[in-house]
Amino acid sequence: MTDQQSSDGVGTRPQMLLRDTNNGYGLVSRFLHWGMALAIVAMFVLGVWMRTLDYYNPYYTLAPDIHRGVGIILLILLVARFAWRLISPKPDDSELTRFEAVASHIVHWGFYPLLFALMISGYLISTADGRPINVFGLFNVPSVYARAGLEDQAGYVHMLIAYVTMVIAAFHAIGAFKHHFVDHSHILTRMWSGPSDTTSQPTEHKR
Ligand code: HEM
Ligand code: HEM
Repeated sequence: MTDQQSSDGVGTRPQMLLRDTNNGYGLVSRFLHWGMALAIVAMFVLGVWMRTLDYYNPYYTLAPDIHRGVGIILLILLVARFAWRLISPKPDDSELTRFEAVASHIVHWGFYPLLFALMISGYLISTADGRPINVFGLFNVPSVYARAGLEDQAGYVHMLIAYVTMVIAAFHAIGAFKHHFVDHSHILTRMWSGPSDTTSQPTEHKR
């Protein structure tokens, strides 16, 4: 598998593409999209659940440790994914109506600042007392801003953004299923199994 093959889009089996093309998403974007989508939903469930635990529960400290550790890894992946999006061509949207194109554009680009704010507010809750975050014993993320009352303010913002993210993700998923089952378009398959045909359209940098 070579990147040259994918950027040329010639003579390559679709599933082997690393990079995105005009026709669909390559392995890097697909892996990041589905891996992060699953992790973000799991983080939401974990976040809600861990808030119900009392001091004597065996998961009282373990669950937040996992939540914070996974959260920091997701923050690193989000930055990498955003950089990848900026240097990758965006699959062609010409089959969408004007409304669908504008709405999906807002949602797709809006996810990045929303998730970034979610993760930064989580970081601020965790480091508001000046202590660093230990990520699974691998490395520490230091506190850069500690202040009395910050934990509660960041906690409120974090909760709010987490719920808003889940609502938008639900609409986003409904939209994807509508394209697949009602319109019979390849919008879902080009994110699930990659570009449908890499030989018919040239790859041109378009966003
Ligand atoms: C993938 C992104 C994330 C999602 C979906 C998420 C979701 C949630 C949810 C739903 C809660 C419970 C809110 C409540 O009921 O008050 C929560 C709490 C919390 N989250 Fe996150 N979170 C994410 C990332 C992070 C990150 C990156 C950190 C820290 C590095 C973090 C640290 C915390 C902490 C410390 C709490 C407990 C807050 C408290 O006890 O008041 N979260 N999170
Ligand atoms: C928290 C969960 C999710 C987040 C944060 C998310 C985020 C994104 C983002 C940012 C894009 C734009 C492409 C990119 O930059 O990678 C995208 C595309 C896409 N997502 Fe999601 N997504 C989530 C869940 C889902 C779910 C559950 C489905 C379907 C069941 C889905 C289906 C799609 C499809 C089909 C595309 C491609 C749309 C197109 O080509 O125009 N996503 N998603």
